Amino acid sequence: MAPNNFPILFSLIAALLAAIFTSANGSERKAHIVYMGAIQNRAMAESTHHLNLLRSVIGTSSVTEGSYIRSYGRSFNGFVAKLTGAEAEQLATMDGVVSVFESKELKTQTTRSWDFLGFQQPKRNLAGELDVIIGSIDSGIWPESESFNDEGIGPPPQKWRGVCAGGENFTCNHKVIGARYYSTSSARDDKGHGTHTASTAIGKSVTTDGFYGIAGGVARGAVPSSRLAVYSACSPSCTDVEILAAFDDAIADGVDIITISLGGFDLSDLRVDCIAIGAYHAMVRGILTVQSAGNDGPVVGSVESVAPWLFSVAATTTDRSIIDETVLGNGKIVSGYSINPFTPNKNVTLIYGTNASKSCSFQNPEVCSCLDPKLVKGKIVQCKSFTGIFKAVDAGAAGAIVLNDKADNVSFIVPLPAIALNFTAYEQVANYAISEPNPHVRILKSVAIKDGYAPMAAQFSSRGPNLLLPDIMKPDIAAPGVEILASVNPQPPQSDTPGDNRTVNFTIMSGTSMACPHVAGLAAYVKSFHPNWSPSAIKSAIMTTAEEMTNTDGFVSGEFLHGSGQINPKQAIEPGLVYEIFEVDYLKFLCGNGFDSKSVRGISGNKSDCSKFSTKFSPQDLNYPAMVFEVSPMKPFVIKFQRTVTNVGIANSTYKSEFSAFSVVYVLKSSEKPNVSVEPPELTFRDLNEKKSFIVTVTGGSIPARTGFSSALVWSDGIHKVRSPIVVNVKLPPIPTSN
Ligand SMILES: *[C@@H]1O[C@H](CO)[C@@H](O)[C@H](O)[C@H]1NC(C)=O
Ligand SMILES: *[C@@H]1O[C@H](CO)[C@@H](O)[C@H](O)[C@H]1NC(C)=O
Ligand SMILES: *[C@@H]1O[C@H](CO)[C@@H](O)[C@H](O)[C@H]1NC(C)=O
Ligand SMILES: *[C@@H]1O[C@H](CO)[C@@H](O)[C@H](O)[C@H]1NC(C)=O
Ligand SMILES: *[C@@H]1O[C@H](CO)[C@@H](O)[C@H](O)[C@H]1NC(C)=O
Ligand SMILES: *[C@@H]1O[C@H](CO)[C@@H](O)[C@H](O)[C@H]1NC(C)=O
Ligand SMILES: *[C@@H]1O[C@H](CO)[C@@H](O)[C@H](O)[C@H]1NC(C)=O
Ligand SMILES: *[C@@H]1O[C@H](CO)[C@@H](O)[C@H](O)[C@H]1NC(C)=O
Ligand SMILES: *[C@@H]1O[C@H](CO)[C@@H](O)[C@H](O)[C@H]1NC(C)=O
Ligand SMILES: *[C@@H]1O[C@H](CO)[C@@H](O)[C@H](O)[C@H]1NC(C)=O
Repeated sequence: MAPNNFPILFSLIAALLAAIFTSANGSERKAHIVYMGAIQNRAMAESTHHLNLLRSVIGTSSVTEGSYIRSYGRSFNGFVAKLTGAEAEQLATMDGVVSVFESKELKTQTTRSWDFLGFQQPKRNLAGELDVIIGSIDSGIWPESESFNDEGIGPPPQKWRGVCAGGENFTCNHKVIGARYYSTSSARDDKGHGTHTASTAIGKSVTTDGFYGIAGGVARGAVPSSRLAVYSACSPSCTDVEILAAFDDAIADGVDIITISLGGFDLSDLRVDCIAIGAYHAMVRGILTVQSAGNDGPVVGSVESVAPWLFSVAATTTDRSIIDETVLGNGKIVSGYSINPFTPNKNVTLIYGTNASKSCSFQNPEVCSCLDPKLVKGKIVQCKSFTGIFKAVDAGAAGAIVLNDKADNVSFIVPLPAIALNFTAYEQVANYAISEPNPHVRILKSVAIKDGYAPMAAQFSSRGPNLLLPDIMKPDIAAPGVEILASVNPQPPQSDTPGDNRTVNFTIMSGTSMACPHVAGLAAYVKSFHPNWSPSAIKSAIMTTAEEMTNTDGFVSGEFLHGSGQINPKQAIEPGLVYEIFEVDYLKFLCGNGFDSKSVRGISGNKSDCSKFSTKFSPQDLNYPAMVFEVSPMKPFVIKFQRTVTNVGIANSTYKSEFSAFSVVYVLKSSEKPNVSVEPPELTFRDLNEKKSFIVTVTGGSIPARTGFSSALVWSDGIHKVRSPIVVNVKLPPIPTSN
């Protein structure tokens, strides 16, 4: 299960260092969001009304003024105030209040990647591209970065209603058309995360030599002529209060796509997931929100982006992998992972962690928790933990050889000559370090090599199934998120290590944070050709044209690693058919799936009453471009998926259906595989935007626990292939509890 309430830097290195925040006790006043749903009446969304509500609960004393923090009211209604638990409960019962919840802290979670996706010289609709505005809710940007240069780009589109209010010394241009910040003094990026993600989506092409010569080439975004609006909501940390404020503004300012590489909400309740709430209001206004899936893989069920109106992105590898090598004194060469730009140092003395520690009885010297600076000075130290790198820096070692505890084959920027080895390689070097009387090593500069296995789901990428809404496929889609080169703020520290004073304009990061803007950029690309498409149509186009991926990690169906597959930019603009979903469908879905009217109001702010929807709406009836069903072990089943497609391809066309063979997570007898059919098996269209419905039936016998199957329905007219995964997943056994 995903950890709750922890900050996620969805770029991985910071996750290693992330602090854990503990909650405080009940009578203390803490920031709460008083969420009041959609704006029905302007006067009710004014701060004067909010203050009146607040006074009626906590009195007119000075406490009221000090307790009130801010109002929302541009795109939805609500305010923020410091409240005790009791006051929050009382406010929740007041007229017009939908829910009250404590503000939580969220985690912030080349470019060869586009070339790898076959997107070298894409067909462009320049006029359309100039009209698309991506809103980035992140840590701000570095406005002087070459990626945000507006050369050749005219004034913002007419529809833009935002402002450039980035604070002191933050200037906008025709590319960066808007900026707002919520806690610090400017929208200037102080982390690098926001600059990296935004430039991945919309950066103009810049030729770079990579990170000190590693992985150089052209860095660019998907839509180099599109506009960026910056909502800096993560400085110093990202909280619900700021994230919701950013959504409130971005929606009202008129962005087309929102990219948000953050997460970390309490999976148990959609009603307090501020990203799901903000994205709901965006969806109602025709704005697609793209979110990173999370970095909690390979844990099954760890995906943190679960709402069906969100577009949730998993991370994959590209064919460029960065590796490093170390040469042992005995001539052996051992390869491992790091982004190490330091030129080969000479043959240096190697010392094992246990032999380099001062007395530290309670800590494990093998992981270098207590290195003695006198013993490691001028030497390379070997440590059985990734964090040994930081300990080596602190102790003044010349370099470090560490264990890649996560065994994830991902390289990170290191602050000194260092390499992370897998377990086998680590032991090999350890044996040498311990047995040799005078061990020496040389750590080489890292190089980029071709990875013939790509794309593979990154091990860190959060996995489905969706524990909250098990019949909604999550993640939805996969995109490059490992070792991505993009712009960054030139301020140190580059490797999250205090004292690492290197100054660069481009850097390499990994995480689902990096995958997310690839999809947001692609959504903008699709929008540049189809400005009137709904968020669900854009999402469907990207999902049904994705490149099929077949890898699984042996625990869950492959779709729970990579959704519909790897994005395919060239095809995404010509999907043929799309599966559309509208607000009323989401409301029916919520009502039909265990949410009562009050909860549905809590999520959507829509006053709709569930009893209005007469027929029972099963999750299989939501017109999602993927079909997932969770069954109980050893119970035969018949499932029907009701779907409707809209023709956006060729007016007169006939689509024939086809199923791919079921693939199975665990080996089963073939007789146990389910059967699947579709009625009607052929769809004939006479017009554009014509809709046709069909029903997919999956029939299965008794299947044991811990199994899963997946297949796919493909509609094809000979030109377009419209592919939707079908996943039958056997309910996860309850998590064993120890008494
Ligand atoms: C980094 O970008 C700045 C402009 O923002 C430029 O002046 C500087 O030369 C660049 N540095 C490198 C190493 O390219
Ligand atoms: C604005 O910020 C940039 C980047 O930190 C800096 O180089 C420049 O001197 C600043 N200008 C002013 C007027 O503060
Ligand atoms: C490194 O130095 C050691 C000890 O001086 C020596 O035995 C070894 O051959 C050297 N290795 C290389 C690769 O230079
Ligand atoms: C571990 O690393 C070595 C290279 O040093 C490589 O040959 C081996 O295949 C790796 N093993 C695994 C399980 O990744
Ligand atoms: C280094 O530590 C290992 C055990 O970790 C021990 O066997 C070896 O004797 C030590 N070497 C020295 C030089 O102390
Ligand atoms: C890491 O690379 C090795 C090959 O060196 C491969 O066998 C292994 O599956 C990879 N692990 C992951 C998690 O990608
Ligand atoms: C980095 O800069 C700080 C502040 O200027 C300085 O104290 C520190 O020694 C520098 N570190 C290195 C490794 O150069
Ligand atoms: C609630 O949703 C329905 C269905 O989309 C819509 O017609 C109605 O306008 C919404 N009401 C509000 C207050 O947003
Ligand atoms: C589609 O085909 C029908 C029958 O052949 C024809 O009447 C109609 O004009 C065609 N529509 C388009 C848009 O080509
Ligand atoms: C699937 O269909 C085949 C052939 O009609 C049949 O023999 C088999 O029993 C069916 N399997 C299930 C699980 O219904």
